[in-house]
Amino acid sequence: MDRTFIIVKPDGVERRLTGEIIARLERKGLSLVAAELRTIDRATAERHYGEHKDKPFFGDLVDFITRSPALLAIVEGPSDTWKVVRTLMGATNPKDAAPGTIRGDFAIEMTENLIHGSDSAESAEREIGIFFPDRA
Ligand code: RTP
Ligand code: MG
Repeated sequence: MDRTFIIVKPDGVERRLTGEIIARLERKGLSLVAAELRTIDRATAERHYGEHKDKPFFGDLVDFITRSPALLAIVEGPSDTWKVVRTLMGATNPKDAAPGTIRGDFAIEMTENLIHGSDSAESAEREIGIFFPDRA
């Protein structure tokens, strides 16, 4: 089996879309193997989004992802699970995300785009190491 890492971001938990989002992943054929509701601390958020540290939106991104509890999870599928999740998520900017995707169906603004999914198999293992060190 092949695993990846997801976050139902604070906006998703606040809007009570956690069940909807996890249900979509499960309907596709992915399984939850670990999940925890946790308020991400600033240092962890900065590490997770380290690739964006020089971008103008970095401060707002860290403020957003740490503002209230998020659902952190490891999901598993038969192959290329990170890619399967990214397809279900839709484009980063919800205005560009296709109908039928999570962002396309439920979001409008770039910052409040509901879900994070690792963008490669390597990112998935790096992020699992950050958020679930016991599962690394
Ligand atoms: P994520 O990492 O959260 O799953 O999102 P992603 O791969 O689709 O997009 P990424 O390029 O990694 O960007 C991370 C988050 O930063 C915000 N963002 N804002 N204002 C902007 O130009 C801008 N670009 C990115 C988004 O909230 C995005 O999810
Ligand atoms: Mg990303």
